[in-house]
Amino acid sequence: MAQQQIWYGGDYNPEQWPQAVWAEDVQLMQRAGVNMVTLAVFSWGLLEVADDQWDFGWLDRIMDQLHQGGIKVDLATATAAPPAWLVRAHPEILPVAADGTRLEFGSRQSYNPSSATYRAYATRLTRKLAERYGSHPALAAWHVGNEFGCHVARDYSAESAAAFRGWLERRYGTVEALNQAWGTAFWSQHYTAFDHVEPPRATPTFPNPTQLLDFDRFSSDALLECYLAEVAVLREVTPGVPITTNFMGFFKPVDYWRWAQEVDFVCDDAYPDPADPASPGLAAMMRDLMRSLGGGKPWILMEQAPSAVNWRERNAPKPAGQYRLWSLQAVARGADGVMQFQWRQSAAGAEKFHSGMVPHAGTETRVFREVEALGAELKSLAGLVGSLCEPSRVALVLDWDSWRALEQAAVPASLDYVAQLQRWHSAFWRRGLGVDFVPPEADLSAYDVVVAPAAHVLSQAARQNLAAVPGRGGQLVVAYQTGVLDPDLHVLLGGYLGAELREALGVWVEEFAPPALVAGQWVPELALDGLAAGPATDWAEVLHAVEAEVLATFRAPGALVDGQPAVTRRPAGPGAGAGGAWYVATAPAALDALAAAILEAAGIAAPLLPAGVEVARRGGRTFVLNHALEEQRVAVDGAAVVVPGRDAAII
Ligand code: GLA
Repeated sequence: MAQQQIWYGGDYNPEQWPQAVWAEDVQLMQRAGVNMVTLAVFSWGLLEVADDQWDFGWLDRIMDQLHQGGIKVDLATATAAPPAWLVRAHPEILPVAADGTRLEFGSRQSYNPSSATYRAYATRLTRKLAERYGSHPALAAWHVGNEFGCHVARDYSAESAAAFRGWLERRYGTVEALNQAWGTAFWSQHYTAFDHVEPPRATPTFPNPTQLLDFDRFSSDALLECYLAEVAVLREVTPGVPITTNFMGFFKPVDYWRWAQEVDFVCDDAYPDPADPASPGLAAMMRDLMRSLGGGKPWILMEQAPSAVNWRERNAPKPAGQYRLWSLQAVARGADGVMQFQWRQSAAGAEKFHSGMVPHAGTETRVFREVEALGAELKSLAGLVGSLCEPSRVALVLDWDSWRALEQAAVPASLDYVAQLQRWHSAFWRRGLGVDFVPPEADLSAYDVVVAPAAHVLSQAARQNLAAVPGRGGQLVVAYQTGVLDPDLHVLLGGYLGAELREALGVWVEEFAPPALVAGQWVPELALDGLAAGPATDWAEVLHAVEAEVLATFRAPGALVDGQPAVTRRPAGPGAGAGGAWYVATAPAALDALAAAILEAAGIAAPLLPAGVEVARRGGRTFVLNHALEEQRVAVDGAAVVVPGRDAAII
């Protein structure tokens, strides 16, 4: 992107307002420093008013007005909400839920991603828009669809079932290979023809786990095909105009490693809860994911709320200063754009109570004043555009198959995959370290520390990849429930982990022994002696340290794991410097102590920051973000920096 300024603006829905308001909008945008808007996301019905009958007049006018006002446009392909006439003419495009319910028209995303009819109409609309606006001077980028999979991540219609069977045939070739992969000898699930296979609809009890996982994989691919069908049109008609679609942070249904290869720049929609004290850490993790998906390149925060959202049970506004602070956090962690949902708060519709940059009460408001102030501040940070974040020395393994498999039913204990990642991310974030996310088969040579928490599903190539880290002098940290299954979800027999990781770590796992939560208490109550001494939660297992040093043991009187190893480390062999392979069989409350030991072994000096303080470095600037309410004093590069509560210093 030939970009001069940090993008600032948001979704703009002029069709919700009389045209008299548009001139005021452009003036206010200029006042607020807005230089980019996302237009026409939900405009299909007002652009194609009946089958192949078009009304582009209003969009022409606002495109021109924005251009005259010096504001660029991230123009949507408008395909995220098919119009009523299309649904009535072709009801087969409506999505079907797992229980067979057809989801009606009247909200948005009322389409089945595998519908050939939907795709034909969507690509025709895309072509019309590309032909009409491809050389419009305001056009900066194409915004394909919107939040793919947000509402309809899986579709169970007959058309999707047929597409699923086609996907399976391409994947397995023969029905015997499918039987083998799905383990269908179990419960008489053997198939003799692909035609007999259906999506995992509502079943009497647990469905086949690999069928479920394959349906997840298929569903992500079906959405991707929808996206790519529009991309193909755009590439043909407007080569050179960058193309994107908005991701949604840690979104399980869609495998963003795969999708990130198909966008010209990565975008994220991020809505951490303003009322949750854990939000800054979670937001930092989402920012790190977006940077990682783009291979380190700048990304765009495509949507955030200027204040409250409308879709939680209770919707807290952002307290004064938080909008700025979280926006600067995105910039510090690699964003070249800070965009909001939405420009003008709606007066009607299901999102009328979602905040906007121009609130219901108008411009003499706290929200608009903060919006204006941030616009000015971002302008002053234009020098950062295109710059990179300080390279991360720590990598966290993230894998969609592991996420999906770990959270299936009929497992030893239900675990929250993102919580496993966040525990580790937070331990590094609290020390001012950037963390890169990596898929398990990624090149890991740039990292001194590689952590794999609950990397449940690992291919042999992934196991070898991870096992090689200590041998080249790195610290490999494997936490529980890693390497339990192969990509077909068959158990790695003989002590879990797979031979490669058992060897690298010098351990094997005999038996899982997760504590249960009974009346809010962990039973058995776990504690650790040794490194990271103190309580532990979430998980335990009977671990054998064959060639590894035991750094911590479980204390859990009467339980299987009492006195057994909980944290181990195997130093790498001679010639591998300080390399080591750590195994962590539980979630220690004192994870900071363990992180400190790992970082020390890696030669990374990163002391704990005061609570609520975040430090991130980008383009030669150091951002010190104080998410706490109290003033904090922080030592940055030898100098003391004092940052008031909920404020930031950029040095
Ligand atoms: C998503 C959508 C927007 C809007 C916001 C509300 O991010 O993309 O259209 O619905 O949520 O938070």
